Amino acid sequence: MIITTCTPQTHLAQIDLIETVFHPRMRHRYPWLLSEGNLAHRFVALDDEKVIGALNYWTETVVIEGNAFSVASIGAVATHLDYRHQGIASKLLDAAEKTMRQAKVDVVVISGSIDLYLRYGAERLSSVLTFEVPSVAQPITMVPVETAHIPALKVMYDQNPYRFERSLKQIQELIEATSVPSNWMNTNICTVLDHQSPIAYAVVTRRPNKPGAWIREFGGDPSVLPALADALTRELGVSRVIVELIHNDPLVPILQNKGWPVVEEPMESTLKVLDFEQLLTKLKPLLIRRDPSMAHLSVTQDGDNITFMFSGSGYTTTARQAQQLLFGPWPSALGVDHPVLVKLKGIVPIPWVYPSNLNYQ
Ligand SMILES: CC(C)(COP(=O)(O)OP(=O)(O)OC[C@H]1O[C@@H](n2cnc3c(N)ncnc32)[C@H](O)[C@@H]1OP(=O)(O)O)[C@@H](O)C(=O)NCCC(=O)NCCS
Repeated sequence: MIITTCTPQTHLAQIDLIETVFHPRMRHRYPWLLSEGNLAHRFVALDDEKVIGALNYWTETVVIEGNAFSVASIGAVATHLDYRHQGIASKLLDAAEKTMRQAKVDVVVISGSIDLYLRYGAERLSSVLTFEVPSVAQPITMVPVETAHIPALKVMYDQNPYRFERSLKQIQELIEATSVPSNWMNTNICTVLDHQSPIAYAVVTRRPNKPGAWIREFGGDPSVLPALADALTRELGVSRVIVELIHNDPLVPILQNKGWPVVEEPMESTLKVLDFEQLLTKLKPLLIRRDPSMAHLSVTQDGDNITFMFSGSGYTTTARQAQQLLFGPWPSALGVDHPVLVKLKGIVPIPWVYPSNLNYQ
């Protein structure tokens, strides 16, 4: 068995395996991840010449409060049924990480939280809040997103302080990709217009045999949400409309103030920091804006041991727990009696992006 990157000869066989394991429209749902232009980040396990394992990642820039990070999003991980439980996916993860490290990637995000990823060293990322939106009849115009709306939609997307760096063309491509149905969800993107001008957009997902509609991404004026819920209820015949947000989304406190029913759950995505020292250098401006004394914070990595140093005091922990400190949620078992933790509490965890739809590929 050989683990290697895809070539023009193996790339279609890799997609065939992925589409057999997941669903037959994966290449359209993830057109960048599974493109021929991304062969260097697409891995295969070969038995003789047969593709029996696949793993892909796509690298791009995440912007958190104006600070840019290099993020590799892993997806379409599959092993042929006859070859599972032989360590193939684990070897594919290790091979991918090698090339990510060469490219100085800061953070790996994986769409999934199965044991395979936790064993690899990734940790559950943050939490998701789902608010039930009350339906209030109001005259609004809700239409399927059109090409003419995309510049306004990008302005709304860019207002989120936690997002990917996206061009107009990329937003357009992601809108098309997000709308490709899978076996487990159907997604539409709609625009809310005020006198022909877009004032909000929503990525709306329906799941087979589920009576609700999920707004899995929202941009623009949140005051339209109840009217949007009403329009969706009538148009889709759904009984409830849910809006899903990462815990640090700026919309969370606004919706919490409204008192709408809310449930908080762990996020299905996981995250692994590849180089803590490099990451901290990039994080510094953000931390210093929160507390100027953070200029004196440093971090060293010795294998799985991470030491945060502040004012002559050092706090050493595992890479897994250091990830939780930086990105949250803080492990509940963690006391905050250590002087470094006392200092960090409230400055970290730092916010992150909700990796789906226009925020994922
Ligand atoms: C998830 C998936 C990619 C794992 O592939 P795999 O090649 O079997 O993965 P690995 O062999 O590295 O690890 C799987 C398990 O086998 C075990 N294993 C690894 N080597 C082994 C060996 N030599 N003998 C016995 N067990 C072994 C691992 O410990 C692991 O255990 P776990 O299930 O408790 O985590 C595969 O099951 C799959 O394609 N599933 C459908 C698609 C999917 O769900 N993809 C992930 C999306 S989030």
